[in-house]
Amino acid sequence: MKVERIRVRLPARARSYEILIEEGALVRLGAESALCLDKAARRVALISNRTVFKLYGERAARSLSEAGFEVAHWLMSDGERHKSLKTLERALEFLSEVKLERSDAVVALGGGVVGDLAGFAAAVYMRGVAFVQVPTTLLAQIDASVGGKVAVNTSVGKNLVGAFHQPRAVLIDINTLATLPRRELTSGLCECVKQAAVASRKLFEETVSFLEKQSSEAVSPKQNSFAAGLSQLIAAHVKFKASIVAGDEREDLARMDSRSRRVLNFGHTTAHALEAVTDYRRFRHGEAVGYGLLVACEISKRLGMLAISELESLSRAVCLCGRPPRTDDLDIALIEEALAHDKKRVGGSLKWVLLERIGRARVVDGRDIPPEILRDSLRAVLHKSS
Ligand code: NAD
Ligand code: GLY
Repeated sequence: MKVERIRVRLPARARSYEILIEEGALVRLGAESALCLDKAARRVALISNRTVFKLYGERAARSLSEAGFEVAHWLMSDGERHKSLKTLERALEFLSEVKLERSDAVVALGGGVVGDLAGFAAAVYMRGVAFVQVPTTLLAQIDASVGGKVAVNTSVGKNLVGAFHQPRAVLIDINTLATLPRRELTSGLCECVKQAAVASRKLFEETVSFLEKQSSEAVSPKQNSFAAGLSQLIAAHVKFKASIVAGDEREDLARMDSRSRRVLNFGHTTAHALEAVTDYRRFRHGEAVGYGLLVACEISKRLGMLAISELESLSRAVCLCGRPPRTDDLDIALIEEALAHDKKRVGGSLKWVLLERIGRARVVDGRDIPPEILRDSLRAVLHKSS
């Protein structure tokens, strides 16, 4: 299988970096790290969790040692609730215990939770050390590992404390997806639909064609045909995400255009509310985004922005991702309340990412969405089956 190298070209050349996509790329982690890290780098702190480390930790550590790095590892507990300030503190203690120096580096091996936490530890330890992302979930490979957003949650909100800290490199070994639980795959596929919907008709069609294949043939990530198709899809998504990040590295709040980084939040307004009203226990993040993007499309349709045929295409694409948890028992008033308290407000109001057509998003001020349209859209999508 061919190796894909995609460059994230940032305004500051020194912060630009490469994303490598390859089956079995993990064995090259050491050599790739040696290429992108400072010459003075001697130590690498590998941060992962028990689930992922058991599967891929030894291979990653061996590759780093063979490239001449002194490797120490630390495992955080598995799960979103551990992406916290408390875990961050432990991670920072570990970095100082192993005497990581300014010229050394952190390697994040895992899904978006590990990547966000380890990346944030790298951003603040000694005011910033280098880090390398090795994402092992589909969601992290197409989205979370690219673009330098790193954060932890607090009791008040998700990703409330964080930084922009670009990795030195992202190494995507698509073979790691062979062990991913089906629900995590569904979650990542929903994020693919979200990203494709705001990207272009072409990426959307490529995504749907992959989804049709994987659902009709009941293929599993262990099969070669699946892996080849998936790897092309991941590369196409990473190219899109890299282009958005290159054009709007720090998500400029003044930008509302269809190529601003903000459009990547498509589906996230409702998704965050769904996650909050269910105490982060019912949905995988991508599953909530699947519902969220449909709510955004329903609002767009009711505002006369989006054709019904486009809404139907998106609805079908989300269905092809897999079976999400139910939503027909959720209280719409509670979701509205959660939306009203969303912390992502700017200037006192929520900014919704809506859709004019597949491939063209529009940022709309929440005050321009009549409350009855919001309520009816939530009901139409979430209470569909009731
Ligand atoms: P996750 O990191 O919790 O991983 C999901 C589960 O899969 C975990 O139990 C994990 O241990 C397991 N796992 C990971 N890789 C595996 C593998 N190869 N085989 C078997 N099991 C494996 O969840 P996620 O969906 O990867 O990430 C969600 C997080 O990403 C959220 O915290 C979200 O806020 C964040 N995120 C960040 C960005 C960003 O730009 N920084 C973007 C999107 C999402
Ligand atoms: N996942 C949204 C972003 O990277 O901006």
